[in-house]
Amino acid sequence: MSFATLLAIVSLAAIATAAPTAVCSDGTRVSNAVCCDFVSLGQDLQSMVLQGDCGEDAHEIIRLTFHDAVAISRKLGPSAGGGADGSMLLFPLVEPEFAASNGIDDSVNNLIPFLSLHPTISAGDLVQFAGAVALSNCPGAPRVQFLAGRPNHTIAAIDGLIPEPQDNVTSILERFDDAGGFTPFEVVSLLASHTIARADKVDPTLDAAPFDTTPFTFDSQIFLEVLLKGVGFPGLDNNTGEVSSPLPLGDTSTGGKDTGLMRLQSDFALAHDPRTACFWQGFVDQQEFMSQSFASAFAKLAVLGHNTDDLIDCSEVVPVPKPAVDKPTTFPATTGPQDLELSCLAERFPTLSVDPGAQETLIPHCSDGLENCTSVQFSGPATDSP
Ligand code: HEM
Ligand SMILES: *[C@@H]1O[C@H](CO)[C@@H](O)[C@H](O)[C@H]1NC(C)=O
Ligand SMILES: *[C@@H]1O[C@H](CO)[C@@H](O)[C@H](O)[C@H]1NC(C)=O
Ligand SMILES: *[C@@H]1O[C@H](CO)[C@@H](O)[C@H](O)[C@H]1NC(C)=O
Ligand SMILES: *[C@@H]1O[C@H](CO)[C@@H](O)[C@H](O)[C@H]1NC(C)=O
Repeated sequence: MSFATLLAIVSLAAIATAAPTAVCSDGTRVSNAVCCDFVSLGQDLQSMVLQGDCGEDAHEIIRLTFHDAVAISRKLGPSAGGGADGSMLLFPLVEPEFAASNGIDDSVNNLIPFLSLHPTISAGDLVQFAGAVALSNCPGAPRVQFLAGRPNHTIAAIDGLIPEPQDNVTSILERFDDAGGFTPFEVVSLLASHTIARADKVDPTLDAAPFDTTPFTFDSQIFLEVLLKGVGFPGLDNNTGEVSSPLPLGDTSTGGKDTGLMRLQSDFALAHDPRTACFWQGFVDQQEFMSQSFASAFAKLAVLGHNTDDLIDCSEVVPVPKPAVDKPTTFPATTGPQDLELSCLAERFPTLSVDPGAQETLIPHCSDGLENCTSVQFSGPATDSP
């Protein structure tokens, strides 16, 4: 063997140690063997809870990623909360009881069993990885970054750190800044999540009242629909944190489960405030820009409280999301450009077509368009907040 060949072998070996690869038991190649644990976690999450669907269980877990992570404060210091640390799961009798997290108990109880099923995985990693898997079930969502290695946390967060829909824009922006230095653009980017969201608690008479007409796809309809003139409420009038909606029609009074569209006061306020209105309007019919902006801000949210140098990049084990529905944003039937209430006049508003139909279309309760889908619910220690 020549000296040159030997040298080549030696340098190849050096490269191999610098970027090791491991092969997980199912054949997945990863850059670090630690990531293998998440391959089987992802399969278990899908088969036991999520079922490949962007339905109620996925939505609730995505909301949980936010409520776990945002509970940290630069102003108040480490005793206020540890950010994306899994404290929601580790202290299930504390944080889920806070009013701002009403309804979060379903996702907390659905994830707790995975702590003992996958004992090498910390609660903080579990919450954020489950969120990444849940997002991948939603057509058009980004494949978000996932860094592993959050330690199991030892204290619960304090009350008052999670924004509420009745909060004004100043306090919402201040809270996000205090939590992690989020800019107003990043706050609006994170609210792309409300494209796959429904409220169970804002109106006590309604379950799963959607924030846009397409709650099972990660599209940009939410950014258009929040800009349409409100005409009524889907259930009771004037609940705290709610303002009137452009599409309040449902069928719950006749025994169905399709509630009308619900609008949060905070989404409405962010869509019209001079600090955020142009960012809000800028996402209308911009699937790719919206999805990528959400991914950047979400990556920041997912590591609040951690030094990323201490974490290992396992993004390669996040499932590839379902592709976006190939459809431009449209005005829902019975609405149109005449209903737009725009606060950002600096930008030209895109020309969008109007869905046909003289009647308001009901928003289906289930992702298959029907009304009787089932969601998974494990029992557990967490309960609804009082
Ligand atoms: C100004 C900030 C925010 C406020 C005031 C807010 C408020 C709310 C409220 C009131 C609900 C309905 C809860 C219920 O009644 O069941 C909700 C649902 C939801 N939120 Fe937010 N949110 C904010 C930001 C975020 C962020 C940053 C994310 C994620 C990155 C997020 C993800 C979700 C999801 C996925 C749901 C739906 C849960 C479900 O369908 O079960 N939210 N939000
Ligand atoms: C984190 O704590 C939970 C609950 O005590 C435990 O089940 C899990 O094994 C712990 N994970 C790690 C990585 O220590
Ligand atoms: C926003 O809310 C905070 C907290 O409730 C309050 O102190 C402040 O006066 C409000 N600001 C405006 C402009 O209403
Ligand atoms: C709801 O609030 C609006 C605006 O404050 C008011 O005009 C309306 O009368 C209220 N409706 C009910 C039923 O209280
Ligand atoms: C589900 O609902 C549809 C109508 O929405 C009905 O035709 C079907 O029989 C129902 N299936 C079950 C299992 O209840």
